[in-house]
Amino acid sequence: MTQYMPSILSLVAAATILFAGCSPSPQEIPRKTRAQFGTVDGKDVFLYTLRNKSGMEARITNYGGIVVSLFVPDKSNRPGDVVLGYDSLSSYLKATPYFGAIVGRYGNRIGKARFTLDGKDYMLNANDGPNTLHGGLKGFDKVVWEAAGTTPATEPSLSLSYLSKDGEEGYPGSLKATVVYTLTDSNELRIDYTASTDKPTVLNLTHHSYFNLAGAGSGDILSHELMLNADKFTPIDSGLITTGELKPVEGTPMDFRTPAPVGSRIGVKDDQLRFGRGYDHNWVLNRTGEGLSLAARVSEKTSGRVMEVWTTEPGVQFYSGNFLDGTSIGKGGKAYAYRTGLCLETQHFPDSPNKPAFPSTVLRPGENFKSTTVYKFSVH
Ligand code: BGC
Repeated sequence: MTQYMPSILSLVAAATILFAGCSPSPQEIPRKTRAQFGTVDGKDVFLYTLRNKSGMEARITNYGGIVVSLFVPDKSNRPGDVVLGYDSLSSYLKATPYFGAIVGRYGNRIGKARFTLDGKDYMLNANDGPNTLHGGLKGFDKVVWEAAGTTPATEPSLSLSYLSKDGEEGYPGSLKATVVYTLTDSNELRIDYTASTDKPTVLNLTHHSYFNLAGAGSGDILSHELMLNADKFTPIDSGLITTGELKPVEGTPMDFRTPAPVGSRIGVKDDQLRFGRGYDHNWVLNRTGEGLSLAARVSEKTSGRVMEVWTTEPGVQFYSGNFLDGTSIGKGGKAYAYRTGLCLETQHFPDSPNKPAFPSTVLRPGENFKSTTVYKFSVH
């Protein structure tokens, strides 16, 4: 397998400009470039770099749709990489806790790895004790997606498609999923998901970046201030399966309606925090209408970076990196210790296929699935 060091890309871009004999200006730096990242099962895997006009750069691979790096300016306008990940494709192939990946066919857990749809029982591949997590043994995070060659003249984007076969991981129906990443000039990473199926199926697509607004590998995220726009959450049992209730956050450590540091209540005695080993829960978003609605806001004092999450989805999984333990050696040789990244995974509620009262995740032939999430960056 060929390897690729991401920093080479920037050097190539810089060299191109130098050879052209002029100093770099935002207009001259290519807004989208591609470099070989390796191969998987004989298929080429590339690392794409998207650059906007406001100092952001996203490096995304068509293996798992993984956002490998996301450079965002801080309050002094210095770019820093705010997502956890690896330098090489081989590290992603060895083991990854879904760093930066597109998760599907069903994000989060389905209890006992089974569900019934239209009276028919489906058995899925269990990969989390008796349950299925993030699509099963080989979810959408572990496949090579097909990248479309076109680049719109304006904001750079990357379109990735994957055809998941009927019966894959136990799910019914051939499902065609397309994910378009766009880096807007207002410092947003926008993700548009579309999908269609030839048989009734269930679907819950999400994105699994671990964010650290002070920079990947720079310490824990406990002092990041978090706001979650949710009056309720979906409690879990000791196996991290939703119980089916929608519980008010009022008076619990789950109440992030007023911004609070992630670590301010993470250690209190509470069954939900014990089951999740910290925060690993789905919040029921206070939605206004159909379109994009504010789900979360995170800010970090030393860098001044702020990230807002907007989504068309009804829920968000806030995961405080409780299973990180320092064994993942990430970009630049930095070890990712306990709670050094946080995920805000926009989604339908976990185990919805077995919880009829939750918003439906069923997709039927003839329907066009559409969902959008925006991660918007600024400084304060
Ligand atoms: C889940 C966690 C899981 C993590 C990484 C999160 O989305 O909620 O329980 O450990 O992903 O696998």
